[in-house]
Amino acid sequence: MSERIAIVSGASRGIGRATAIRLAKDYGGVVLVARNAELLESTAEAVRAAGAEAFVIDADLRDPAVAKSVVEQTLGRFGRIDAVVNIAGAVPQVDVLDMTDEQWDDGFALKLHGARRLTVHAWDALKKTNGSVIFTSGNSAQTPKSAFAAVATVNAAIVAMAKAFADRGTTDGVQVNSVLPGPVMTDRRRSYMEKYAPAHGMSVEEALEKFPSQVGITRYGKPEDIAELMAFVLSPAGNWIVGSALRMDGGEIKAV
Ligand SMILES: NC(=O)c1ccc[n+]([C@@H]2O[C@H](COP(=O)([O-])OP(=O)(O)OC[C@H]3O[C@@H](n4cnc5c(N)ncnc54)[C@H](OP(=O)(O)O)[C@@H]3O)[C@@H](O)[C@H]2O)c1
Repeated sequence: MSERIAIVSGASRGIGRATAIRLAKDYGGVVLVARNAELLESTAEAVRAAGAEAFVIDADLRDPAVAKSVVEQTLGRFGRIDAVVNIAGAVPQVDVLDMTDEQWDDGFALKLHGARRLTVHAWDALKKTNGSVIFTSGNSAQTPKSAFAAVATVNAAIVAMAKAFADRGTTDGVQVNSVLPGPVMTDRRRSYMEKYAPAHGMSVEEALEKFPSQVGITRYGKPEDIAELMAFVLSPAGNWIVGSALRMDGGEIKAV
């Protein structure tokens, strides 16, 4: 069994949960970070069933002290870190003219700074293992819309920040990339559709059904689709993928 250890943020639900469970096949231990302890415990059961040790840390990554504590607890428990997979994200979905300063700050606090701090604090440990980091961005980085201004802005910033970490990683021996999912059916996607539907004159059920063909895809992504991409990038076969912004979206973005 592998001794390697991965930290997965956002592991209580959606893409993070699926990724944690998928990585249990490749890692000896998976550290699960999010706020909801009950949901994390359910992910932990699935991780153990898939063959890895699971270590739950329920914490709010917006809190500047949390990232350091997550790294310290991980090293205390396992003594090493081989991968940091930053998936936690909950950027407010509000129109560009209505976003308050607090909502902008909140969007950056978790998805950008939470991920940045976790990566910075884990960096020395990652250097020792020639480890890997993935940041989760999203298609909106390339298709900003007024209705979801902050999500797009944070996602674009994440792609740039990942590049900067990747640049440092080429000298420090740490592989860094970002992943840009398209529409993946999760709790967050459902809440997006609750705002998308009235804006497009539809009921939520109707919007859920019509959205894939409206954006030119055959189906919603599954969290497991993105989890497989994460696992490939982290695997030996993905070792030379460095500083890339990897889109997986069923063909949603039509631009070159
Ligand atoms: N689904 C999509 O279509 C899509 C498309 C593009 C990009 N993405 C990105 O992919 C990532 C995962 O999305 P998802 O759809 O899987 O979302 P989700 O189902 O809503 O899951 C979000 C995860 O983030 C965690 N989280 C939220 N606030 C947190 C906080 N303050 N501290 C720690 N953890 C926190 C949540 O756990 P708790 O609530 O337990 O804290 C949960 O585990 C996000 O960054 C999202 O922007 C998703």
